[in-house]
Amino acid sequence: MEKIDITKQVEWAQKVAKINEGKNLKYAIYTMGCQLNENDSEKLCGMMETMNYCKTEKIEEADLVVFNTCCVRENAEDKLFGKLGEIKKFKETKGTIIAIGGCMMQEKHIVEKLKQSYPFVDIIFGTHTLHKFAEDIYQILINRKRIEDILDIDGEVIEGLPIKREDSVKASVTIMNGCNNFCTYCIVPYVRGRERSRSPRDILDEIQELSKQGYKEIMLLGQNVNSYLRSEKEKGIPFENNLLSKPSVSCQQGYTRSNSESEYEGVNSFATLLRAINEIEGIERIRFISPHPKDFTDDVIEAIRDCDKVCKFVHLPLQSGSTQVLNKMNRKYTKEQYLQLVEKMKQTIPNLTLSTDIIVGFPGETEEDFTDTLDVVKQVGFEQVYMFIYSKRVGTPGAQMPNQVPEATKHERFDRLKRLVESKIAQQNQTYVGTTQKVLIEGKSKNNENMLTGRTDSNKVVVLEGSEELIGQVVPVTIVSEHMWYLKGRKEV
Ligand code: 5AD
Ligand code: SF4
Repeated sequence: MEKIDITKQVEWAQKVAKINEGKNLKYAIYTMGCQLNENDSEKLCGMMETMNYCKTEKIEEADLVVFNTCCVRENAEDKLFGKLGEIKKFKETKGTIIAIGGCMMQEKHIVEKLKQSYPFVDIIFGTHTLHKFAEDIYQILINRKRIEDILDIDGEVIEGLPIKREDSVKASVTIMNGCNNFCTYCIVPYVRGRERSRSPRDILDEIQELSKQGYKEIMLLGQNVNSYLRSEKEKGIPFENNLLSKPSVSCQQGYTRSNSESEYEGVNSFATLLRAINEIEGIERIRFISPHPKDFTDDVIEAIRDCDKVCKFVHLPLQSGSTQVLNKMNRKYTKEQYLQLVEKMKQTIPNLTLSTDIIVGFPGETEEDFTDTLDVVKQVGFEQVYMFIYSKRVGTPGAQMPNQVPEATKHERFDRLKRLVESKIAQQNQTYVGTTQKVLIEGKSKNNENMLTGRTDSNKVVVLEGSEELIGQVVPVTIVSEHMWYLKGRKEV
């Protein structure tokens, strides 16, 4: 495996920082898509800050505008092209640098469209070249010639990039990237490549550092977290040793990493990773997204049960409740197997709550298939359901399947599912009233400066009165009333 030398990127960043020195330059960033993309954006922000750009929310002020795109569903494309139309005038008046990266840039037809219809875009970069952003910026500042920096082959796990985190209580940590599952509706395996896991030591070091900085909640990210290290084991890659590149130099801000020899031995799977993170002092909560039901092995269920910091709240994507549709989706489980898994998890893990993803209107979905989905929703009683209308993705098998469901039927089913989900959530919310919940206080409420907001272990938003000193603490809160998307609480004295 060829090692990526991140020290070169440190040098590019330093060169750009020098060019930009004293110019008071600003950047704006738009992130579309999932939490993995948000985590990538935090790294892009980290890189831009080392290059002497400061963040602004006002696009008209920005000297550099970055779009980090998603392509899981079609509407993201419309949003990107709409926004590009808007910022064209800033390019014309003040020469703003425009860079577009992320999943959508791994789709050839999108890159072609950009080149033809939006020639004012300066940098197009893909998911496997994010770490070269400093080099791309340097080239554009020097040459002013459009850069297309996209790799088709799988990228490597890059360590040591600077990161500017959005939050001070919760932090996301990517543990693996890519996906080997090829669900037939999904574009992710084509744009993010095959599964690659970070080494246990790099992950544990990062979380230890986050704990020192005062972070309380860790969200582990990956397209398929419970197959963490599987590919490495199958290929015989020794993941205990850090094969991956480490920078030997450090720069004034960012591009540094700790070289401490922290404990990482014994981590050889997702379950053992959870157990190891559970031992890290200072961290109060551990969450993860997304696991695949087919890989939800007993050792993971037992680790969730045994680890006091791992939230008893699991996101378990269902996608469809019909065995026939699941088969066409290549999900590799049946309706019954999903329900059995839920049963086993509920029996093993006291007070377990679940959330899920559901796609409505996959090709060939009949009324009977859809009724199966409603049935699973009724039986499981999810705390949260993320509902999606099936969206054809170019290059996926689903796009070629016969019997595409008409738009009107998809919407009608979506509305029926939404009504059921909302009535179930309303029922569940009632059961919280009068109970005392441990709430991690995340900050001030966005809607009311005088109120605090936090979350229960089961990820319910709780709004309460209290002083700012509580931010970052887990406090007992009695729930006094329920509303569809949040609970109101009172701190216990
Ligand atoms: N259409 C609709 N929803 C999709 N998802 C993934 N691909 C598609 C698609 N083509 C949903 C799945 C996945 C979530 C992240 O997005 O439910 O779990
Ligand atoms: Fe897409 Fe399926 Fe992989 Fe999830 S598991 S990223 S839905 S292919």
